[in-house]
Amino acid sequence: MENFDDFFTETFETATLANNLVTLRGLRETATGPSSPESILQAIEESREHLTEHLPWIRDTDIFDIKKRIRSWILNEKFRQGGCWLIYKNPDGEISTDSTTPVAGAIMMDVNIRNHSATLSYWLRKGYTGQGIMTEAVKLISAFSFATLKLNRLEILVSVDNPKSAAVAKRCGFTEEGINRDFELINGKFVDHRRFSLLARDVYSCLPE
Ligand SMILES: CC(C)(COP(=O)(O)OP(=O)(O)OC[C@H]1O[C@@H](n2cnc3c(N)ncnc32)[C@H](O)[C@@H]1OP(=O)(O)O)[C@@H](O)C(=O)NCCC(=O)NCCS
Repeated sequence: MENFDDFFTETFETATLANNLVTLRGLRETATGPSSPESILQAIEESREHLTEHLPWIRDTDIFDIKKRIRSWILNEKFRQGGCWLIYKNPDGEISTDSTTPVAGAIMMDVNIRNHSATLSYWLRKGYTGQGIMTEAVKLISAFSFATLKLNRLEILVSVDNPKSAAVAKRCGFTEEGINRDFELINGKFVDHRRFSLLARDVYSCLPE
């Protein structure tokens, strides 16, 4: 595929994804207001209780760590290794263009460009769960990944103790492939993960000719 790398970076940097329920915008180092590093930290602090069980890095994060992580996601975009979107719930079903809309969560993508594949991870802020927000965000990212980034495979790895996250993968049409043993060290314990995948052909073979 000619100039795939340049196409990938350019597309990633400029993409805003939206449907009726949610808008996803790429993380920016210079963001102010509700998308600033300070506001992201506030969203995490409000949600620490339900996030730390599955995302161990949340436990000790602070503003320096958040800024470092944002920088690292921006570099990932530049080197075609991935990216991170902030998720906003659309006010009154309108696409969020309003810079006062609070961040509802985030969705991260680690890309293996050689294999045209990527792994997704995500979290939602307290008060934004139970509304289908992550399901819609993953569906948007999946469509963008296959149709625009021309990826072939998406993967979601879910701790065996995380049925809510497994339910997101299943609602989005991912297939369960098996168990990755001792996959992640979470809060001092090695935890098995369920591996889910969605392929471009899973999606396109369902579409009418
Ligand atoms: C994983 C996580 C994002 C899932 O959040 P969630 O709110 O369950 O997922 P969704 O936003 O897709 O919402 C689905 C829920 O909304 C309900 N819902 C309401 N309207 C809906 C709609 N239009 N579409 C789909 N679901 C809808 C569903 O029934 C479901 O509720 P239920 O679990 O009580 O059945 C959240 O639990 C989280 O942040 N966990 C901590 C971090 C984490 O584990 N990350 C994953 C690491 S892989």
